Amino acid sequence: MQFTTHSGEETLQLGERLGKLLKPGDVVLLFGELGAGKTKLTQGIAQGLGLQRGEYVRSPSFTLVNEYRGHCPIYHIDLYRIESYAEIENLGLEETFFGDGVTLVEWAEKLYRKPGDKTTLGFGIEPRMEITIAIPDESVRQFDIQPEMP
Ligand SMILES: Nc1ncnc2c1ncn2[C@@H]1O[C@H](COP(=O)(O)OP(=O)(O)O)[C@@H](O)[C@H]1O
Ligand SMILES: [Mg+2]
Repeated sequence: MQFTTHSGEETLQLGERLGKLLKPGDVVLLFGELGAGKTKLTQGIAQGLGLQRGEYVRSPSFTLVNEYRGHCPIYHIDLYRIESYAEIENLGLEETFFGDGVTLVEWAEKLYRKPGDKTTLGFGIEPRMEITIAIPDESVRQFDIQPEMP
């Protein structure tokens, strides 16, 4: 499915609607350059998942994973600073991917064992939602949302 938003606020709303559809165990992979709106969409998804009042989603900077509480745990992973799959393969991330929460991953291409080769997606991740964000104009974002099966 394709969606276009024209402001950060609209992206939050899109995320919120999407979040309402997600269930514990779901994995959402986010692709798109810096400023594409991956974090903004994640904030909306967390709202849709019932993020507790007073919690604010921001990108994990020093920790790789932030955990929030909604109707289920929400794991927000940001791999921006990761340079290769080798850096993350022994961190036990499968516990989040196969746990009791919804997992959202920014810079999901860093999960490929071989850079650029989407057939080498790591951690044994199987069904997932892939969201690719393009920036056609300053405040316009295009979201391509695809369910993927191995
Ligand atoms: N339509 C839009 N959707 C999402 N963000 C937008 C949009 N238009 C402008 N922006 C701005 O783009 C930036 C997106 O930032 P962020 O969500 O942190 O991106 P990323 O996590 O992909 O690096 C924000 O500053 C936001 O205000
Ligand atoms: Mg971000």
